[in-house]
Amino acid sequence: MSELWDTIKLLSDATRARILLILSDEELSVAELQAVMNMGQSRISSHLSLLRQGDLVVDRKEGKKTFYSIQKNFSVAKTNLIHSILNALKSDPDVSEDRANLKRILEQRKQATEAYFNSVAGRLGKHYCPGRSWEAIGHFLLYLTPKLRIADLGAGEGLIAQLLARGAKTVTCIDNAPKMIEFGKELSEKNGLTNLDYQLGDIEAVPLKDGSVDLALLSQALHHADHPQRAVEEAYRILDNKGRIIIIDLLEHEFEKARDLYADVWLGFSQNKLYQMLKTAGFKQIEINVVSKEKDPPHFQTLLASAIKR
Ligand SMILES: C[S@@+](CC[C@H](N)C(=O)[O-])C[C@H]1O[C@@H](n2cnc3c(N)ncnc32)[C@H](O)[C@@H]1O
Repeated sequence: MSELWDTIKLLSDATRARILLILSDEELSVAELQAVMNMGQSRISSHLSLLRQGDLVVDRKEGKKTFYSIQKNFSVAKTNLIHSILNALKSDPDVSEDRANLKRILEQRKQATEAYFNSVAGRLGKHYCPGRSWEAIGHFLLYLTPKLRIADLGAGEGLIAQLLARGAKTVTCIDNAPKMIEFGKELSEKNGLTNLDYQLGDIEAVPLKDGSVDLALLSQALHHADHPQRAVEEAYRILDNKGRIIIIDLLEHEFEKARDLYADVWLGFSQNKLYQMLKTAGFKQIEINVVSKEKDPPHFQTLLASAIKR
């Protein structure tokens, strides 16, 4: 019973009752409450403190701001009591004014977010957006792909393969650098990926059976092959009849230092050259596009090629 008397005592003050009524509609900061009620900060803070001690409101910190909202877990008797008091006040002129002010304040909140996005519209896609990363987008896209048998040819430690394995049926990484295979195996064990396998091998003589995969990926690997045509033909051989090849590689460039810096054998490929290689291997539905250009010199550009076996 004393809890109910305490509630009646607390809400016998008009300001506290108004605060609770406002907070029953929306969680607000002290500054927002000030704006809604046209009152000074110290007055509002002292009433809020009493309401919090009386367990009628709760607070939540967000950075430097504290937000207040009505407590949700009242006993049935206390809920009924609070509802009756607040309902009785709804036609009070101060309460009507609070409601109108609250609507305006909430509109202002929305407008602040809107103003920010209006100011960055057209630039958001290319600029930093907290939390958005290509890795996260990659994880999301994997939900949309069917369960495939994938061969990652020239996989390195398997940066892409580790990601693909989360959505694929199986992923087999082929690489001719023993250290890469060693690191990759360790990484896949650490990540508990049982459908990801590493095999030492050459992309020009892939140690996989004919027609055994649905997707053959050559990501930044083709320009390291002595005979890229052979690598494309090997991809064709290991693909199932409905299988697809994806090549991600550099567009032809003139940055000679890449041979020493990155052990590149070829300085990228022109779209025509890549098209001819795929066509010669027997691929159909060949599509090739430049999908990105680096901001910094030598402004490497990335080609994405896709084709199907039949
Ligand atoms: C630039 S890395 C790309 C790694 C990975 N595909 C990626 O996109 O992150 C090239 C990889 O191809 C491998 N590689 C180069 N020539 C190869 C060949 N003939 N057969 C198999 N792997 C090869 C290298 O050992 C290296 O791990």
